[in-house]
Amino acid sequence: MNMNKPLSGKTAIVTGASSGIGRAVALTLSRDGAAVVVHARRKERLAELAAEISGPGGRVLVVAGDAGSPSDLDTLLERALSWEEGGRRIDIVVANAGRGLAGGILGSDEAQWQELCQTNVLGTAHLLRKAGQHLVKQAGGDIVVVGSVVGRNISPFSGFYGSSKFAVGALAEALRQEICSKGVRVSTVMPGIVVSGFQQVAGYNAENFGKSIAHFGRLLEPQAIADGVAWLLSLPPHVNVSEIMIRPTGQNYP
Ligand SMILES: NC(=O)c1ccc[n+]([C@@H]2O[C@H](COP(=O)([O-])OP(=O)(O)OC[C@H]3O[C@@H](n4cnc5c(N)ncnc54)[C@H](OP(=O)(O)O)[C@@H]3O)[C@@H](O)[C@H]2O)c1
Repeated sequence: MNMNKPLSGKTAIVTGASSGIGRAVALTLSRDGAAVVVHARRKERLAELAAEISGPGGRVLVVAGDAGSPSDLDTLLERALSWEEGGRRIDIVVANAGRGLAGGILGSDEAQWQELCQTNVLGTAHLLRKAGQHLVKQAGGDIVVVGSVVGRNISPFSGFYGSSKFAVGALAEALRQEICSKGVRVSTVMPGIVVSGFQQVAGYNAENFGKSIAHFGRLLEPQAIADGVAWLLSLPPHVNVSEIMIRPTGQNYP
């Protein structure tokens, strides 16, 4: 193991690693020396990612599951803690899995509200609780939560989704206050518009999305968020940047 990399000797869990931001985070943390445990529902995509990580010598464990299911998340933590190549430890948890939903309170598809809440809020809360309990016992580590700029500046165009990200931001800050004295850092990364699988899953199209963001100019690639996460994790352990917003330069709002 090359011990000269910033995250050498550390093991990171990344949820939502089969696409977009989570995928880029997993690759980046591996590049920085971490052993990575990658989680999502789509196994074949995780297998492709694992090949990309292990090709150049990175250590990776695939655990497929639903980020809205507490028992699947418990399995994720148990598998990580019994993974020999990862040192049977967890140092970093990136709670990234989530989904969007086009439309405001009037126009969004109410049939999707419950599933969105289960994944974005309840699943994330369960992961934060379990990861927090583990890292407190270990007396150190990092939890990075992927929120959204619409979790700070609500928008009428994605009102229900935005409210879930307000909840995620509140959970992360409450957790930070609860466990910071135990040496655990909690950070919320709030991306602006990132081109990923997100837009298709959310049901965005030219009409309900494209037109309103046309003036933003060049949008972000997932790597911009992964670089932000890597930077947070590279800071000395007594420095906690607890919130960071990363937008395309031309995105004025939200
Ligand atoms: N893209 C943006 O503009 C943007 C802006 C702000 C915040 N965000 C946030 O960034 C995070 C990542 O999104 P992204 O842009 O990278 O979108 P993406 O490309 O669609 O990736 C979403 C990831 O989350 C996973 N996921 C979704 N629901 C899941 C479930 N129930 N169980 C397990 N995994 C689940 C997906 O994996 P499977 O489908 O394989 O399960 C996938 O790996 C989300 O929390 C999103 O809200 C995105």
